[in-house]
Amino acid sequence: MPTKSKNPFLPFGDQQRAPWYGKDILTVKQFSRADLDYIFGVAHEMRIMVERVGTFDLLKGKILANLFYEPSTRTSSSFNAAMQRLGGAVIPISEVKYSSVAKGESLPDTVRTLSCYADVIVLRHPEVGAAALAAKYAGKPVINAGDGVGEHPTQALLDTFTIREELGRLENLTVTMLGDLKYGRTVHSLARLLTQFNGIKLHYVSPDILRMPRDVMDEVAEKGIPQTDHAALDKILPETDVLYVTRVQKERFDDVAVYEKVKDAFIISPEVMKAAKKEMIVLHPLPRVNEITMDFDADPRAAYFRQMEYGLYVRMALLAMVLGKA
Ligand code: NCD
Repeated sequence: MPTKSKNPFLPFGDQQRAPWYGKDILTVKQFSRADLDYIFGVAHEMRIMVERVGTFDLLKGKILANLFYEPSTRTSSSFNAAMQRLGGAVIPISEVKYSSVAKGESLPDTVRTLSCYADVIVLRHPEVGAAALAAKYAGKPVINAGDGVGEHPTQALLDTFTIREELGRLENLTVTMLGDLKYGRTVHSLARLLTQFNGIKLHYVSPDILRMPRDVMDEVAEKGIPQTDHAALDKILPETDVLYVTRVQKERFDDVAVYEKVKDAFIISPEVMKAAKKEMIVLHPLPRVNEITMDFDADPRAAYFRQMEYGLYVRMALLAMVLGKA
C-alpha cells in the first residue's frame, strides 16, 4: 500500500519507527499477526492514558475529516472522540445531503477536497470498494469505516481487541457468528481477521438466505481454519467462547416482506443463554434491534457495551499510527 503525504520534517529514523505513517486502512487483509499485536499494544496504552488523563496532545494540530454517507452512531462518534482525546480536531460530515455530494459531486472529488483541509479521512459509504476508490484519489490516508456489505476493518480490530481484553487470549477459541452473515460487513471482516490466530474454530448460524458468503468462507478455508454452517444455535452454544450476534441488515433488502420473515429468526435471552458456558462473552457490533433481549444486558457475559468503549482505544491507536505518532 503506498504511503501518502510523507512528512519531510519527520526524521528518517522516525519514519522507520512509524511504519503505518501515511497508510490507508481498507481491509483486514492488510494486517499480519505482528501488526495486530502492535495495534492492540498501542490500543492498550491508549486505554491506560484515557483512564489516567482523559485527553492528551499526541495529535495536536491534526485534523480528521469524518465523512459518513450512511447512518452511524458509534463509529462516527468514536472516531470523533478518538481524535479529540488525542488533542486533534474534526470536520464532521455526516449529512452528505447538506454537502456538495447533493449537487452531484463524485467521491473522488469530495475526498480530493477534504485532502486539502484534513490530515486523515474516515469514510463510510454504501458501496463495496468505495474506500479503496477514495484512497486512490485522496492525498491523505483513508480509513474504511464500512463499505456497503464489504468490510468494516476497524470494527473487526475492536472486536478482536475486546476478545483479548475480556478473555485474555486470542488462541484456541470457538467463535459463533449469528444472524445476518450475508449482508453484515462486520462478520466478513472478523472471520477473515480471526484466521490469524491458532486454534480458532468458526461456527456460522443464520437463516438460509443470510448465510456467510462463499468468498469469505473460501478465504477462511484457505487459511486452514475449521468452519461450519448451521441453521440452529442450540447444538453449538454450549461449546462457544465468543457469541457474535448481528442485526439483520434491513437496508440491504430489496423486498421488505423477505426481511420481515427473517428479522427475528434468532433472539438471545437469559433463557437461551442458560445453555452457554459461564466463562464466555456475547458481542454485538450494535445497533441492536431485537436480537438480544434487554434483560440479558446485566449478565456479566454481555460484553457488547464494553466492546464499544474498546472501540475508542482502537480508533485512537489507528489515528496515531497513520499520522506517524505511534
Ligand atoms: C455495524 C455496521 O455499520 O456495519 N455497526 C457499527 O459500525 N457498529 C453493524 C450494523 O449496522 O448492524
